[in-house]
This record gives sequence, structure tokens and C-alpha cells, in this order.
Amino acid sequence: MSTFGRHRLPEWPLDPGIVYLNHGTVGVTPRRVLEAQQALRDEIERSPSRFMLRELSGGGASASKSKPRLRAAAEAVAEFLGADGEDLVFVENATTGVNAVLRSLEFGAGDDIVITDRVYGAVEHAARHAAGRRGASVRRVELPEPVRDPAQVTEAIDDSIGAATKLVIADHITSESALLFPIAEIAARCRAKGVPLLVDGAHGPGAIAVDIPSIGADWYTGNLHKWGWSPRSCAILWTAPARQAETRPAVISWGYEQGYLLEFDWAATRDPTPMLAAPEGIAFMRELGLDDMRRWNHTLAWQGARILAARWETDFVTPESMIGTMATVPLPAEYGVTSDHAVRLRAALLFEDGIEVQMHPWSGRLWARISGQVYNEISDVERLAEAVLARRPAARTGEGAEAGARTG
Ligand SMILES: Cc1ncc(COP(=O)(O)O)c(C=O)c1O
Repeated sequence: MSTFGRHRLPEWPLDPGIVYLNHGTVGVTPRRVLEAQQALRDEIERSPSRFMLRELSGGGASASKSKPRLRAAAEAVAEFLGADGEDLVFVENATTGVNAVLRSLEFGAGDDIVITDRVYGAVEHAARHAAGRRGASVRRVELPEPVRDPAQVTEAIDDSIGAATKLVIADHITSESALLFPIAEIAARCRAKGVPLLVDGAHGPGAIAVDIPSIGADWYTGNLHKWGWSPRSCAILWTAPARQAETRPAVISWGYEQGYLLEFDWAATRDPTPMLAAPEGIAFMRELGLDDMRRWNHTLAWQGARILAARWETDFVTPESMIGTMATVPLPAEYGVTSDHAVRLRAALLFEDGIEVQMHPWSGRLWARISGQVYNEISDVERLAEAVLARRPAARTGEGAEAGARTG
């Protein structure tokens, strides 16, 4: 029997009646990590003020001689990401990491922030908010559709950097389109032009091997609650040493002007257990074998995408080098074109066929994004392929004809 596949499902709290092909959206936390988190909760509740004020962050009333608990966890995560613990702090999620950087920078009238058209929606909102308040603007780079070569992304971003560009935000792995960007090449182009780069690595840690310093970016924010198997809400913000003095958390609290680490660590009252339990998720992945796990998940995504495209008779042209553990495949044109079509098909798949998958409209048609995780196997993707075909609008009476007519 393979190390991975459906027999691992009992280690996850997922409903066994559902084929879950959507690990990427909000992550899933393994049972043993949830148990570690509960043990932390129990430990905190035995003496909450002692833990929260004295043991957690190293700020203020901290009398403990031992390393602050948050630092110990941050160092374990940093080691997993090839980073120095001194450069890495926890944030609640990647969106908070992005907001922290955007709020830390001074934009002026006429400045611009470069993003791409594959940016995550909430990140675009944060960029527009930060720019708009200062009379700056957001420049949204159009990438080719489809992207056939990672160099197309690098060139498009490089071409769009102008004299007014004060920040580039680039994904490590995009959300809906699930494209692994050539992030080190993008970072090199930004450096050559003297423009700082913020990497949105929401889908990076755990999914692929990430060595943050070697990317050469100025900031890297990434979730652990997606592919790092930590509880929600747990993410990191890594900051290059030269940028740390100017980098502040999105919420200013007790660590104000106490240096990069305390600015973030000595925060207002919050639940620290997702962060403190993060090393348990990493330990579990390591026990299963990081390389084997990634190979399994990648193969599911890559082979799965090709199976879907073959069964649906659509084109899947993404190069394998741009696929991590997710892949996005177009549906046949007759399935529709709007968000409403996507929502309805996705709901039918979940509530009637027992399959959870991400689905969205893009470029005049619907697309399905599959995630490969250790509890999945290729038969899950085959089930999705057949379930979608069984819902082919033209093959249905009444509602099918209506859905088909709406594609124009
Ligand atoms: C590329 C990308 N960036 C940012 C986010 C936001 O993640 P979070 O909601 O954990 O902040 C997501 C979530 O899916 C994402 O896909």
C-alpha cells in the first residue's frame, strides 16, 4: 500500500462522505495537530495571565528566563523555511502579512504598486487601499492567457516596472489559476531596478520546498494554515534585515518601537495556539517524508489536471514547472461563464455528488481548481471528471438548455 491515499483520511477531521479536492482554499488541520493545539489551550487556561504575559512573547512582564514560547515556535518554522528566526514573525494570515507591509511603506502622489491580473482579490483590495489614500495607484499587469512559460510572467512584471513603481507584489503560487511563479527570477529583476518585492506566498510553505532568503525578496508572507498543516490562523512574515526597521505589524500594540520581533510578537490579546502548534504540523509532514509528500501531491495535481482536460476535451497547457500541488483546468464552454454558473455547479457537486472543489469564472469560461493532498488519490479526480460530465448542460433537459443559453 502507498504511504498516501484515502486510507490516511482518518488522520484528518474531514467528512469521509466527501471527496475533498479543495485543500488549498482554507487548509485542513490534521487531527494530531488539533490535539496539540488543544493541549496548548489547556496549558494556557491553567494559568492564563502567567502564560500570556510572562511566557508567550518576551515583552513587558516577562520574567521567564527561558525562550519566549512564540519565539521558539517561530524559530522552528524559520528553520523549515530556510530562514533565520530573527527575520521571521507570525501573523494571523497572509492577508495580514500583506497589510502589514503595505501600511509600513510611505506612498506618495503619482507612485504605483505593481500587481498582476492573477493577484488574490483581498491582496488587490489592500494594495488599492494603501495606494488610494496617498494619491498613488495600482498597476495591474496583464499576463498572457494562457501562460505557457514562466518567463512570460517575469518579462511582463519587469516590463511594467517604471520610475514611479515603489513596490511589486507577486504571488509565489497564484490562487485561482494555481500557477507557480518563477519568484527568484522576478526578485532578481526587481532588485536590478531597485524596487522592493513583497511575495504573497499564501500557498507556498509546505506545498513546495521554500527557502525564503534564497528568493532574494524584501518580504515574504506565507500561510501555514493551508499547506503547512497548522491550525487556522497561522502565517508568517519574513522580512529582509535591511527592511526590518521600517516594517510594522498591521495592528500596532505593546511592542511599538521595540524592534522588529517584539513589534509583532508582543501583540494584543489573541489566540496564540495556532502559532504554537505550527511545529507539530511540520513534524507530521517530516514524519511522512517531505519529498514523498510533495511528489504525491504534485503528481495528483499534474496527472489529475491532464485527466480532467482529456475527459472534458479542453486544453490544459500549463507547463509542469508551474504546477505545485494545485492545478486549474478549463471546463467545456457550455458549462457557463459567470460566477453564478460556478456557484451553482460547485454546490451541485458538493451537495448532490459529495465532491468539494474550487470553481470560478475566468477569461470567458469556468475553471476547476483541484488540490492534491496526502488523503487524496487519483480516483478522487476521476470521480470529479465523471460528475462534471454527468452535469453537462446540453445533456440535461430544461435547466440545462437554460444554462447553455447563458454562456454567450
Ligand atoms: C494567493 C493568495 N494570497 C492570499 C490569500 C489569503 O489567505 P488568508 O485568507 O489566509 O489571508 C490566499 C487565500 O487563498 C491566496 O490564495
